[in-house]
Amino acid sequence: MSGESLDALKDIIPENRLKTELPEMEDYCHDEYPDIFIEPEAVALAENEDEISKILKWSQKYNVPVTPRGLGTGLSGGCLAAEGGLILSLERMKSIREIDRQGLFVTTQPGIITKDLQDAVEKESLFYPPDPASLESCSIGGNVAENAGGPRAYKYGVTRQYVQGLKAILPDGERLSFGGKLIKNVSGYDIAGLICGSEGTLAVITEITLRLVSKPAQVIDLLIPFPSLRDAAETISDFLSSGIVPNTMEFMDKAAIARSSKFIQKELPYMSSQAQLLIQIEERENIDSLLESVQVVAERHNAEDILLAENPVQQELIWQARRNLYEALKQSEGSMEIADVSIPRHRIPLLIEGLRKISEINSTEIINYGHAGDGNVHVHVMQNFIESEEWDKRKLLIMKEIFNLVSSLEGVVSGEHGIGFLKKKYLKYCLDDQSLKLMQAIKKTIDPENLLNPGKIFI
Ligand code: LAC
Ligand code: ZN
Repeated sequence: MSGESLDALKDIIPENRLKTELPEMEDYCHDEYPDIFIEPEAVALAENEDEISKILKWSQKYNVPVTPRGLGTGLSGGCLAAEGGLILSLERMKSIREIDRQGLFVTTQPGIITKDLQDAVEKESLFYPPDPASLESCSIGGNVAENAGGPRAYKYGVTRQYVQGLKAILPDGERLSFGGKLIKNVSGYDIAGLICGSEGTLAVITEITLRLVSKPAQVIDLLIPFPSLRDAAETISDFLSSGIVPNTMEFMDKAAIARSSKFIQKELPYMSSQAQLLIQIEERENIDSLLESVQVVAERHNAEDILLAENPVQQELIWQARRNLYEALKQSEGSMEIADVSIPRHRIPLLIEGLRKISEINSTEIINYGHAGDGNVHVHVMQNFIESEEWDKRKLLIMKEIFNLVSSLEGVVSGEHGIGFLKKKYLKYCLDDQSLKLMQAIKKTIDPENLLNPGKIFI
């Protein structure tokens, strides 16, 4: 970034919201993926649309890349300045504009923490379902950029299913307003649907209108331990075909649970079991028959027990353990590689078996957990005590084997975490040439100079 361009930037953003030195830019050099550190040339904390529009025009004029950023909890490097330039942080734009109780919508700025948004709408007896594990520290704008999921996606779907309207600034600095408080809208292409999940490569999101639902009844959580991964996986498959639709159908293996227990320093239920399912059900009139169906299916696959967690303390413990799984694994000895694979969900048993074989053949620990009911499993290849040089070779080989397996199951490289720059070399495992070309053509049409979040998604 030249001295001239920096001076011009200072005319747009006051100095107290501009960072150019490392100690104060430290937080913006990484997301939550392990061992990544990329230093931007500057960080600007925008406060309004006008500033964002001017920054994007400045980016075109001085040929400086701009990378939009929410609260930096991503897992694919999407919010890092992969090709240098400016990080444009939306963290200060965090006001809720309106909660529309009559129409069941919330309109918000992008920087608000997802949990704060959820709490605000719940006070009005409304509900915003998507619940990424990082919900207490991620922003809704980041969720929209990544099309975030979460455990409740099993019943309620992912972020895109709630984004009905967007305001955004395009790479040339022009403002776009699409959709609104609408449930149905097929008036032209679904621009909001395109921007949602585009990982900050097409536009900077400045306002979001989300559809809400009414607050569900009280929930109960079921924790079901199994003597083997295969039993747990087959139970999920069987649940799907039996038409049982709980809120969540989460899966955790023994090693994941052990790491989480150590991390939160609390003893957890069934720590000696090989795998557990965490199923959340909304209390309704037919709860008894639903529980009975769950029990029948689980016992058919050797469930060791069924823990019914109805009191808030026990429920909080179980979910605290679940939400902290990733953080817990990150604290383990050595580094790790993460694959966030998504496959047709009835093939979960084949995926789990394939992963077991890959782990065995390569003598490397692979820890799995995730949204198995959606066919979305977070696969963690652990370095543990493998020496660095050997680890660098082995992890690449194993990741390739994993994506070959996923491809053979007709799955995709990422279900939640996006491609960013960390997964772009694997995108070819799940996209045909025409799809890839079309995506690149869309990027080129909207951002011909490739200045908005360059170096992401495509090689
Ligand atoms: C989770 C994050 C890692 O499900 O996606 O915990
Ligand atoms: Zn997840």
